[in-house]
Amino acid sequence: MLVKGRSGYLYESLKGHGRYQNAMIMVAGSSGSGKTMMVERVFEELGNNLKSVNISITDVNDSVESGFMMFPAMDKEHKKLIEMQNETTKGKPTLIYSPMSVEGVKNEIKNSYSRGHKGLLPNINFFTINIKSLNRDTAGFLFETSESKGTVRLFLNAIDSLKENEGLEELKRIIMEKAKTKKIRYYGREIESDESKGDKKDAKEILSQLEIFERDMILMPSNYKGNINLKDIIRDNSHYHVFTYKYLNNDAKLRDFMVYYLLSEIDKYKGISNHTIVLLIDEIKNLAPFKAQGHKRILSAKIGELLDRLRKMGFTIICCTTRYTKTDEMVRDACKFTYLFKLSTDDIDKLKKIMNYSKRQVHILSTLNTGEFVSLGYENMIKCAKVPTFGHKTENFKFEDVYFKNFREEMVDYKELVKEVDELHKRERKETKEKKKLEIKKMKEVIKKEVKQKMKSSENAEKLKDMEEKEKFGKEEDRQKRDELVVDTFVKMKLGDKKPSYRNVADEMGSLGYKISYVTVMQILKDKKVI
Ligand SMILES: Nc1ncnc2c1ncn2[C@@H]1O[C@H](COP(=O)(O)OP(=O)(O)OP(=O)(O)O)[C@@H](O)[C@H]1O
Ligand SMILES: [Mg+2]
Repeated sequence: MLVKGRSGYLYESLKGHGRYQNAMIMVAGSSGSGKTMMVERVFEELGNNLKSVNISITDVNDSVESGFMMFPAMDKEHKKLIEMQNETTKGKPTLIYSPMSVEGVKNEIKNSYSRGHKGLLPNINFFTINIKSLNRDTAGFLFETSESKGTVRLFLNAIDSLKENEGLEELKRIIMEKAKTKKIRYYGREIESDESKGDKKDAKEILSQLEIFERDMILMPSNYKGNINLKDIIRDNSHYHVFTYKYLNNDAKLRDFMVYYLLSEIDKYKGISNHTIVLLIDEIKNLAPFKAQGHKRILSAKIGELLDRLRKMGFTIICCTTRYTKTDEMVRDACKFTYLFKLSTDDIDKLKKIMNYSKRQVHILSTLNTGEFVSLGYENMIKCAKVPTFGHKTENFKFEDVYFKNFREEMVDYKELVKEVDELHKRERKETKEKKKLEIKKMKEVIKKEVKQKMKSSENAEKLKDMEEKEKFGKEEDRQKRDELVVDTFVKMKLGDKKPSYRNVADEMGSLGYKISYVTVMQILKDKKVI
């Protein structure tokens, strides 16, 4: 449906069949073409008319762009446009969320002095992530696999063993412990370990992927009070919810992880909200690029799959992209409405082939002014986007400065919070280190005992052998003595008056304590060559 507006322009209305529809919306156009202003307007209209829960998930330039929704319009041109729409400007109640990075926030506090804000920052909900909320989905993202590989299994197993007060350091320790090789060498001997649950290679892979959390330890024990709860957010339609990652380490995967985590948490709790949920994702091509490689391939596929799931659940997802043809095809295809602002020449060239555009259509696409767009499939009709009635970020505005101007009283000193989180991390590191030390000591003691026992039993065997040998040798000695005594008795009898028969010798031996038969006597005498 189209609405006639100023100077004969046609404004696009999101009302289809007289009502607002849930849909996936793609807004494409090169930088400065007016995409963000349009999606902000869509955000506003849906919020007003559907009483939707509005969440802005990405913050492309670390500029808290969506945070400007809390301010009234400041830009002269913008104000003029609002006036032309017969509207007045007003900021919307907006909550800003940011992952809690000790280093990042410390830096910002430092920077605040040079801005004249004396260590104060805008009111931001700094949050951490409950480490136990990481699931198969997020593990798949972290370890860049869509299958249930060893890494995912070992990781989930370790997450499962974590107690509510244990965090990342303990998780890493448990992973190593679970992946102990089956045999440990100690004192030059191999000892069996029966606790092996994973592969050392998998454990190493997990630990290397977890390095993205090394500087910004945003994964916290499940009982930590600062952990984010998406359940609360997706039920709150009295604020706009805006996420920024500007305090985070500039690690692409860490940032993508944050977005992915939020989306998957929203997906997890989608059933509990009674409101329509509107998600704003700026620069979707960064998250879901066309024919992506590496972790982006997994992310891209996962984002596509997730968005599709959310779309089917009735979410409205508004995506922006500066490069339409460089955006994942699955995401592109899932969008019900696609609005094309002035595109890059490369996009126009590619689309020309894909859509079989006429010369006129190519001309229209190449000559659109700022704020003008066409709908994909209806390229002959130029429309104009309305602008939002709340503030919009332009180049010359910095979020902190505008916030200071508008909400000076609400600026917050975060030094205490930073100290608290920092100490918590340090304590956890220390505790895990001590645990590791103790564990090694205990392990060495167990092995020592085992080795000693083994040595002991081998000593015993030696002794036994010794004893057996001695016993054997002793018997040999006895026999020789006895044989000599037989010879002696026989000779004495021969010299004396008793008949030296074998039987008499045997009898005589019997009286000396040797039980011996006359046959043996005869044998001995023969052996000794006495007879
Ligand atoms: N409907 C409009 N009418 C007139 N001017 C507009 C309109 N929309 C945007 N503009 C002007 O264009 C500027 C850039 O718009 P916007 O921030 O929406 O661009 P963008 O396409 O999101 O760019 P980027 O890709 O860099 O984020 C605005 O600051 C505003 O001055
Ligand atoms: Mg923009």
